[in-house]
Amino acid sequence: MLIIISALLLAHTFDNAYKLNQNIKNKNKSTFVDEKMILGIVGSPRKGKLTDQLITRCLEGVESVGVEIEKVYLVDSKIQYFTKQTKCSEELNNLWKQADALVIGAPVYWGGINGLTKDFMDIVEIIDVNGKYGIGISVAGGTGRGLCSALQNIYRFFYHRQIRAIDPTPVSRFNFKEILETIYDSGRRLAELSKERKPFEGDKDRMEYYEKLEYLNYAFLDEMMLLARQLIKISKDKAAFQKAKHEYETAESLIGQGKRQEAIEYAVNTYRMLYFDPPKS
Ligand SMILES: Cc1cc2nc3c(=O)[nH]c(=O)nc-3n(C[C@H](O)[C@H](O)[C@H](O)COP(=O)(O)O)c2cc1C
Repeated sequence: MLIIISALLLAHTFDNAYKLNQNIKNKNKSTFVDEKMILGIVGSPRKGKLTDQLITRCLEGVESVGVEIEKVYLVDSKIQYFTKQTKCSEELNNLWKQADALVIGAPVYWGGINGLTKDFMDIVEIIDVNGKYGIGISVAGGTGRGLCSALQNIYRFFYHRQIRAIDPTPVSRFNFKEILETIYDSGRRLAELSKERKPFEGDKDRMEYYEKLEYLNYAFLDEMMLLARQLIKISKDKAAFQKAKHEYETAESLIGQGKRQEAIEYAVNTYRMLYFDPPKS
């Protein structure tokens, strides 16, 4: 009996201590973090798949810094293509307004972002976002082709809407695992930056900023070279590895000499030698 009473008393004490700790944590949250919120947008209609996993991981990074998150699946909202009559849902418009920063993840369909994400971009009501921070993630889960052109779709949108976007993130099946790790840190960085908004002073300032971002000026060949690099990184055990690497280096050297047309053959060879089909699901 005595043992049971002692155990109950101990459990009660622990429970109170836990509640007190939670109260302090919550208080700290509102006092010091200033209740910032970052919105994650899943543009893929497939919940739980690649885009969703990357957004989730990025938001985990955000949360680790003590910043609030909201996550939305565009597929859950009745998004219609733009006409003068169509309106975005109040919920999405309000979340955009409230968010201090944004993460948009979109799957790559034929070299661009999918229609759902684009329709959302066309109709969402955007007021006063100059200098809010953002991250864009493009997910080319098939051949990988189009991962940069689709990323450019997202960052062009950010550019036009005056969002101060960081860390352009092109993802294929070949670098997916790696990005699933690094996107956590991008989320953390985004959360830190979102604490102080930094509006662009004008067109010059904004253009200078965007000109410096990686991948946004990638053409077909640059994209193929990126995919080749991603494949080389994960193919060390493959029989064709050395030969493929040599092809890649030849392409690289030709590009360095300004011979882009000649380089194409070698870039494509690298990709072909190391490419593997997606697992059947
Ligand atoms: C209509 C359509 C077009 C696609 N086009 C491409 C493409 O150009 N490049 C590519 O790598 N994958 C392409 N894919 C594959 C998707 O990028 C892949 O399914 C991706 O995983 C989608 O992201 P999710 O897993 O988050 O849905 C396409 C898929 C569909 C349905």
